[in-house]
Amino acid sequence: MTNRSTTDFGFQDVDSSEKTNLVTDIFRRVASNYDLMNDVMSFGIHRWWKDQFIQKIAPKKEEKFVDVAGGTGDIALRLLNKSAPETDITICDINPAMLEQGRARTIDQGVIKGLQWVCGTAESLPFPNASFDVYTIAFGLRNVTNKESALKEAFRVLKPGGRFYCLEFSKVNHPLFEKAYSLYSFNVIPKIGALIAKDKAAYQYLVESIVRFPSQEELVTMIKEAGFASVSYQNLTQGIVAIHEGLTAQ
Ligand SMILES: C[S@@+](CC[C@H](N)C(=O)[O-])C[C@H]1O[C@@H](n2cnc3c(N)ncnc32)[C@H](O)[C@@H]1O
Repeated sequence: MTNRSTTDFGFQDVDSSEKTNLVTDIFRRVASNYDLMNDVMSFGIHRWWKDQFIQKIAPKKEEKFVDVAGGTGDIALRLLNKSAPETDITICDINPAMLEQGRARTIDQGVIKGLQWVCGTAESLPFPNASFDVYTIAFGLRNVTNKESALKEAFRVLKPGGRFYCLEFSKVNHPLFEKAYSLYSFNVIPKIGALIAKDKAAYQYLVESIVRFPSQEELVTMIKEAGFASVSYQNLTQGIVAIHEGLTAQ
């Protein structure tokens, strides 16, 4: 009898203590091609998904935001563009290489105010209780080892009346479309990864991790179990991705 706890890493089951390092290594390897790969793999549709996400959040300028697993700052930059220059947005990511790409990109775009870049894990956020009005996580939760802990941390760092938003790959709700999507995911994406990022394994992990991620309804249950109220979701592109939202009590 052993106490070893395992978790998903793509289609493999690995020791829970190993997953974080394996995921961190993947994003360190792909960081320099990350933004280009998103455009190529999704034919640019990820931009529309992210725009829908920001529209749903409807950021207000007096709010304090934390974007967890914020990577190269794509969501944070969109929030900043939609709100105001004085907006306060903290980007938190476990991976210094992703944060560094993001910081360089924002400097290139002339953005110097309003963004804080913090290295930390979603499962134990380096922020006091009730620090933020809005918590966002986009294409991040799938990669976190202990998703329940990450959701509880989201609840902890939000103020009363705070808003939680998650954008993540989900379950396609149309059988024919699902078949085509699955064929594309498994046969094409790893090849694009090999060609552009020179890393087939990283993109094989991506498609496998999408299959292992909870369904829309399962994620609703997990978000409620973390303490959130008024939890709901919206499918985009037949459920290829979904936006989940929830509120902390007033
Ligand atoms: C697919 S990228 C998403 C980046 C960005 N949110 C976007 O939408 O473009 C996933 C990010 O999650 C980060 N990540 C993985 N595990 C994490 C964890 N436990 N805590 C915080 N960030 C994590 C990775 O380093 C990576 O930057």
